[in-house]
Amino acid sequence: MRLFNEVKIGNHTLKNSMVMSAMTRSRANIQGVVGDLTELYYTQRASAGMILTEAINISEQALGSPFTPGIFTQEQIDAWKKVTNAVHANGSLIYAQLWHTGRVAHSIDRNGILPVAPSAIAIQGGKHFTAQGPQDYEIPRALTTEEVKEIIQDYGQAALNAIEAGFDGVQLHGANGYLPHQFLAENANQRTDEYGGSIENNSRFMLEVMHTLIQAIGGERVGIKLSPFQPYGGIVLDNPVATFTYLIEELNKMDFAFAELMKRSPAFPLLPSYPDIDELEFFGPKIKAAVIANSSFTKESGEAALEKGLAKAISYGVLFLANPDLPKRFELDAPLNQADRMTMFGGGEQGYTDYPFLAQ
Ligand SMILES: Cc1cc2nc3c(=O)[nH]c(=O)nc-3n(C[C@H](O)[C@H](O)[C@H](O)COP(=O)(O)O)c2cc1C
Repeated sequence: MRLFNEVKIGNHTLKNSMVMSAMTRSRANIQGVVGDLTELYYTQRASAGMILTEAINISEQALGSPFTPGIFTQEQIDAWKKVTNAVHANGSLIYAQLWHTGRVAHSIDRNGILPVAPSAIAIQGGKHFTAQGPQDYEIPRALTTEEVKEIIQDYGQAALNAIEAGFDGVQLHGANGYLPHQFLAENANQRTDEYGGSIENNSRFMLEVMHTLIQAIGGERVGIKLSPFQPYGGIVLDNPVATFTYLIEELNKMDFAFAELMKRSPAFPLLPSYPDIDELEFFGPKIKAAVIANSSFTKESGEAALEKGLAKAISYGVLFLANPDLPKRFELDAPLNQADRMTMFGGGEQGYTDYPFLAQ
């Protein structure tokens, strides 16, 4: 099966074509420092061809939720070193997913400081998980042009820190309604400077961040995650097909390792103004970099996407969360552990490092 074949992505050869997708688990300490359990959690999943870490805050300003890790203090970097060493010793590759949450945040967990965003527009409806329970979203503070440029530099520094921490590369979290995605969406970005007001301007932030990451650590160590039709975080684009087509054309002018394309998850209905097309089939062939397909894949549908040439690898989220030995289970057609939703975010080893392996 193609899922079990080696595949080259960037300068790396993955031992199989199964990637673990990024999953926030909120088990760092309050300083954003990961510990021994996180080392164990990723080591247990080192049978993946490549691991994409949970989203990691690039700066103090980037933080949206408590107990999410960072990569901007020396203590955080040193803690990640233990994780990357252990994953490498167990034969896998590990990329750091770089995160700025923008307006998907709350001042309760930011020392009373309001979240920042392209424009002062709050997420409508829904609640944000905070240290003091679920809260309504606040109206974020709009970033100045100067601050936008500083954030782009913060991404570059975070990439350098990731390399210092021993990561094989970084993935820009450009999906799921966080800051880069907020810039793309007209309902979150009403800026009148060069970072808003047109498809070209709305795309500028993401493109400049990618350019900066590539300059910092080399394109063969850089990837991105995109979720064109995912409305998570209250994201609505006026014309998602036109915006993502332009974005992809511009990304294709850069050399980088991979784009993880996340299809809209069935948990979210298609927005009435969006076209009912398969994002992987529509956008995938337009992407020059290696495509990693994501969302709701099974063994069979993942294999079919590889067969059709729609992707070079498949990333699995929840299945890897609950099955540390997922490739082995696929190979043997063994039963799969079911994920426990109650222990996904926060807590200790329960629902984190205690999912059973197949008996030897
Ligand atoms: C608990 C949990 C946390 C997640 N956190 C992140 C994250 O930090 N970054 C990200 O890009 N996606 C995140 N996701 C989305 C997954 O990476 C993936 O795109 C999604 O679960 C769909 O893939 P799947 O159907 O194989 O699980 C998260 C998903 C889950 C279940």
